[in-house]
Amino acid sequence: MPGFEIFGEEERNQVNDVLETGVLFRYGFDGARKGHWKAKSFEKELSDRLDVSYAHLCASGTAALSTALVACGVGAGDEVIVPPFTFVATIESVLMAGAVPVFAEIDETLCLSPEAIEAVLTPATKAVIPVHMCGSMARIDEIKTLCDKKGLILIEDACQSVGASYKGKALGSFGKAGCFSFDPVKTITCGEGGAIVTDDKDIYIAVDAYADHGHDHIGDDRGAEDHMIIGANYRISELNAAVGLAQLRKLDWILSTQKKNKAVLKEAMSTLPRIGFRRIPDPDGDSATFLSFFMPDVTSARHAVTALSTAGVDGCFHWFDNNWHYIRQWNHFHQLKALSRLAVEALPNCPDYSNVATPKSDAIMERTISMQIKLGWTEEQLDKRIKTTLDVLQTIV
Ligand SMILES: Cc1ncc(COP(=O)(O)O)c(C=O)c1O
Repeated sequence: MPGFEIFGEEERNQVNDVLETGVLFRYGFDGARKGHWKAKSFEKELSDRLDVSYAHLCASGTAALSTALVACGVGAGDEVIVPPFTFVATIESVLMAGAVPVFAEIDETLCLSPEAIEAVLTPATKAVIPVHMCGSMARIDEIKTLCDKKGLILIEDACQSVGASYKGKALGSFGKAGCFSFDPVKTITCGEGGAIVTDDKDIYIAVDAYADHGHDHIGDDRGAEDHMIIGANYRISELNAAVGLAQLRKLDWILSTQKKNKAVLKEAMSTLPRIGFRRIPDPDGDSATFLSFFMPDVTSARHAVTALSTAGVDGCFHWFDNNWHYIRQWNHFHQLKALSRLAVEALPNCPDYSNVATPKSDAIMERTISMQIKLGWTEEQLDKRIKTTLDVLQTIV
């Protein structure tokens, strides 16, 4: 997830374009902005790149998810199937929509399993949000088939996987809407930013309005614009969009560098007995932000992550024990700790989140270590990393 590693002249020039005009707002000021439309340009280039009809840039990945849910008509009492391995933002956005997060197990793709989705369907199920974690994909074709068969809305959380694809089709483009994050640690970053993509014109119009207080954006007089709906302010600024635009233009290089670095590491680690690798349904479509591997058991995983860090192999994560991406440690969520009463608590189908059990996911996550892939590694650094990693892991497996 290395966009921040490669800031250069390109980002600076884009930001300077904006500062020179003084127009930080993404809408209007047509004359003053001297032809610079950073958010609009980003949207055009992103939709071309992902081969989708529409892209809307917004303030964050969380804002993208919230907007996508509302635009797809998900609301009070609707059940939305989510994985327990994600970032808590996926869950927050469902709660903020007034809907009910329902957890289904992941499989060795580290993403929602289609069989597990089927097992938790109820008459109240309205949508499914597979999360393409750590740069790679869920079994998205099977999930899409299931959603189509059951009449469920498919919204992809591709916040961690921009540039990844399945059999040549961009992640984020399979469902009714796809969401991306361009926060500070993502593959490409705007500083803070996100995007919703869709092929559905009505969804796009709803997204575009909702993320800007319901404005219809018809004509060039903001004061005369109608409010189509009640919305929110999830706008991105031109400054953030400018950084992201420069980064988007570097995406091909980022992906090829990540893939190269990951391939070398994976090949070396494949010589280790008793270590397995995450299942990747289409290895060619992997964006290669992480190398995720399975240790034989939880004890060896704990031992390995500590030993790797002590030996100087940084960027290795045992999500099962840390607080970032796995439900096990989200105590605030288990207790639905919020500043005010959440809509979900008043619903008859509100689950007891203090008791969510995902034993199959536990059995996978307790053994999983993800190693971050960096762009800036020199050949010597990569060689040293491989040697140290093998030395450490050989003493454990
Ligand atoms: C899977 C996933 N979904 C959603 C988000 C939210 O994105 P943002 O930080 O831009 O709000 C993140 C951010 O880490 C994420 O990893």
